[in-house]
Amino acid sequence: MATIEEPVAIDLKKLEAFVFRAVDEVGATLNTALVVMGDKLGLYRALTEAGALTPAELAERTGTAERYVREWLNAQAAGGYVEYDPESGRYTLPPEQALALTDSESPAYLPGFFQIALGSVNDSPRITEAARTGDGFGWHEHVHDVFEGCERFFRPGYNANLLPAWLPALDGVVEKLERGALVADVGCGHGSSTILMAKAFPNSSFVGSDYHDGSIETARARAQEAGVADRVRFEIAPAAAYPGEGYDLVTMFDCLHDMGDPAGAARHVRETLAPDGTWMIVEPAAGDRVEDNLNPVGRAYYGFSTLLCTPASLSQEVGLALGAQAGEARIRDVVVGSGFSRFRRAAETPFNLVFEARP
Ligand SMILES: C[S@@+](CC[C@H](N)C(=O)[O-])C[C@H]1O[C@@H](n2cnc3c(N)ncnc32)[C@H](O)[C@@H]1O
Repeated sequence: MATIEEPVAIDLKKLEAFVFRAVDEVGATLNTALVVMGDKLGLYRALTEAGALTPAELAERTGTAERYVREWLNAQAAGGYVEYDPESGRYTLPPEQALALTDSESPAYLPGFFQIALGSVNDSPRITEAARTGDGFGWHEHVHDVFEGCERFFRPGYNANLLPAWLPALDGVVEKLERGALVADVGCGHGSSTILMAKAFPNSSFVGSDYHDGSIETARARAQEAGVADRVRFEIAPAAAYPGEGYDLVTMFDCLHDMGDPAGAARHVRETLAPDGTWMIVEPAAGDRVEDNLNPVGRAYYGFSTLLCTPASLSQEVGLALGAQAGEARIRDVVVGSGFSRFRRAAETPFNLVFEARP
């Protein structure tokens, strides 16, 4: 029997609210590029150093074109990033914004977050095509802003948490590192976590590895600059075949879920770990159920997961595609299913979960 469909009732107030929310979101999307522009052109740094400036003064100080700078400043003022004084025609970067946008030592440092987001959006036409076919898109295929943004985004969190909180949360690991331990940092990217540990534990030796040759080249240069090249080696290798054995500590920072075959990687960790060794897995904060992650942090991570992590995993053998919001239960399944008898959540922050696995 044919059915007559009732027209869906539209709540005009809700529609209007959604449209205005979209205006804000489009402004925010464009602001991602504007923040990267301000970072790369030194506009935030100049405002931090000089205080209130006119567009002409800011352009003069940064060697940029006044007309662009004026428009950029107005967009920044409309978004609450800078303050505008109509009387003097000057713009100021408030101290909180100055800290978050210019102090690379601050845990609140933000430019890398915007840079990796911009790089991800930049590559989105390729991901859109991949979504039609189910093909993957490898980490190594992205634009440079993804690699550099990733390094600059994660480093402040590692600086704030790794030495004071995450390593001490692991059973007996800091003592081993102080005495002299062998460490593998797998999927190390530009090596910021490897170098941070190498600086803190001069008696230990570190092997950073990543399948992406460009990242390893940068990591080697970073180790030279940091003066730790004597105790850090960087190797191009997939996680299922990184070199060496007898490791006291294997670390994976925000990369297990990016791998096509995380179980294969886990088995290799099991084989290369010393009998009483420790595997530390740092993953994005996430609950086990979709509904646990429907919040601003989950939104950003599901976004990165759609554009970066899921295609990266699908581009590799097995293509398990755990996603950036895998959550503890799925990570536990991979780890325990690969021969580890102990697994626990050792630490957490609003952005990360830190797991300890032991043979
Ligand atoms: C989100 S980035 C994290 C990089 C680094 N650990 C950090 O915290 O800055 C993920 C990294 O995992 C690496 N990766 C992905 N799949 C891999 C695999 N199968 N073997 C080794 N590295 C892999 C990528 O090349 C990339 O450098």
